[in-house]
Amino acid sequence: MARRRQIYEGKAKILYEGPEPGTIIQYFKDDATAFNAQKKGQIAGKGVLNNRISEHIFTNLAAIGVPTHFMRRLNMREQLVRQVEIVPIEVVVRNVAAGTLTKRLGIEEGTQLPRTIIEYYYKDDALGDPLIADEHIACFGWASQEEMNDIADMAIRVNDFMSGMFAAIGIRLVDFKLEFGRIWENDYSRVILADEISPDSCRLWDIKSNKKLDKDRFRQDLGEEAEAYQEVARRLGLLNGES
Ligand code: C5P
Repeated sequence: MARRRQIYEGKAKILYEGPEPGTIIQYFKDDATAFNAQKKGQIAGKGVLNNRISEHIFTNLAAIGVPTHFMRRLNMREQLVRQVEIVPIEVVVRNVAAGTLTKRLGIEEGTQLPRTIIEYYYKDDALGDPLIADEHIACFGWASQEEMNDIADMAIRVNDFMSGMFAAIGIRLVDFKLEFGRIWENDYSRVILADEISPDSCRLWDIKSNKKLDKDRFRQDLGEEAEAYQEVARRLGLLNGES
């Protein structure tokens, strides 16, 4: 394969220049990090599974009308996506209390939230991705009000779709993180769903046993990380006939 220009190396992915202008290749690594990269490790085969799981979810979201950067999967670890200007905001959607919500507000883990919460974090590793309010986004111009309306609408639609998709295979969608990117068409821009959706970016609990089937197994040293990711892919029907 011809050498490609690496654009960026993140904690779990590498981005390369794509074959056509305006395209990017996302390469999924097995590397796992937690607590703003203070904990580092590897989950064998994670990149292959996340590539496949994210493809599945993004393809299904496109089918219900959520615009995404996903174009096609290229091979076991790579997918072709549209180049976007990343909006520097991590959007977290929560249905059940877990993670930083339990720590910050003292809500017991596993508490079903009476309504879905959407939170925004400023994407900045050096600052540890701090929680922010709409006011900060408007004040510092990280996204326009119109973009934030579109982002919140898409986050709710993604939550509705994924909650149903996972419930159908015996998994509770506790929470997840989304990222969005801006694309320019003529003189207009719009925001579309970007990055990935996988057990790295979602909390997924078995509905019956509450077993964690996501990156919390790595964060909390619970073991059987690779098996958990495989279980999610298996239940989604992605392991049979895998090319
Ligand atoms: O840690 P916290 O409880 O705020 O995480 C909420 C959700 O967002 C979890 O599903 C977690 O996996 C995801 N997340 C992420 N990347 C981050 C922070 C959180 O994927 N940088």
